[in-house]
Amino acid sequence: SNRTRLIAGNWKMNNDVAGAAKLADELACALPEVPEGVEVVVCPPAVDLTTVNDRIQAAPIALGGQNVYWEASGAYTGETSCDMLKSAGATYCIIGHSERRDYFHETDEDVNRKAKALMAAGITPISCCGESLEVREAGKHVEFVVDQIKKDTEGLEIADPSKYVIAYEPIWAIGTGKTATADDAQEVCGAIRATLVDVFGAETAAGIRVLYGGSAKPGNIAGFLEKEDVDGALVGGASLKAADFAAMVEKA
Ligand code: G3H
Repeated sequence: SNRTRLIAGNWKMNNDVAGAAKLADELACALPEVPEGVEVVVCPPAVDLTTVNDRIQAAPIALGGQNVYWEASGAYTGETSCDMLKSAGATYCIIGHSERRDYFHETDEDVNRKAKALMAAGITPISCCGESLEVREAGKHVEFVVDQIKKDTEGLEIADPSKYVIAYEPIWAIGTGKTATADDAQEVCGAIRATLVDVFGAETAAGIRVLYGGSAKPGNIAGFLEKEDVDGALVGGASLKAADFAAMVEKA
């Protein structure tokens, strides 16, 4: 495809300010440039955003949040607004990660509201979806993910398809060392693309990046990226080591 590949690092709840500064410096050093047609983003914890932003200024690395709240400001203790993310330098934000859905009860309706708020603020959502092991074993994974996509995209208006990203992460492959096969990823990413065609039309659907996530690492990323509907990776564990993350970018 002619879609720009996207390699996104999700640091999850790792690295205090000093640790984040160190990793950001290592990344900036390991990635003075990135291959043509590849975009790179790192998503540190909220308290690390400004520090990481300062450290990656000279590198071709973008910054993203891991979560956001859709209200503009006010009495929402513990939350971060779109404008706050933006003021810290973020141009991307992960939403609907399975950890947030599982542990913090985030729903498809929440994910949809977050996507709308981010897009209104000019921040690109990386909207996550993916099935549990139970759903996979019942053979209902395609149906399940298609349903998530329909709910998560409801009423979205996408003017620039490069500014809305989906990440398919089978929950059973996250942090488990158990990767989906490249064919497993293509099966669902292809179904996601077909759903996007239904929702937004062929032209917009063709411009939306669909990432794979779940134990992606230097040794397996190339196989995923060979697939027609896989446009990059959302990387957890391997994004915490600059050498591994840089190796994945080089292979993209
Ligand atoms: O957001 C990233 C994913 O949850 C994947 O995490 O690469 O550690 O399996 P992982």
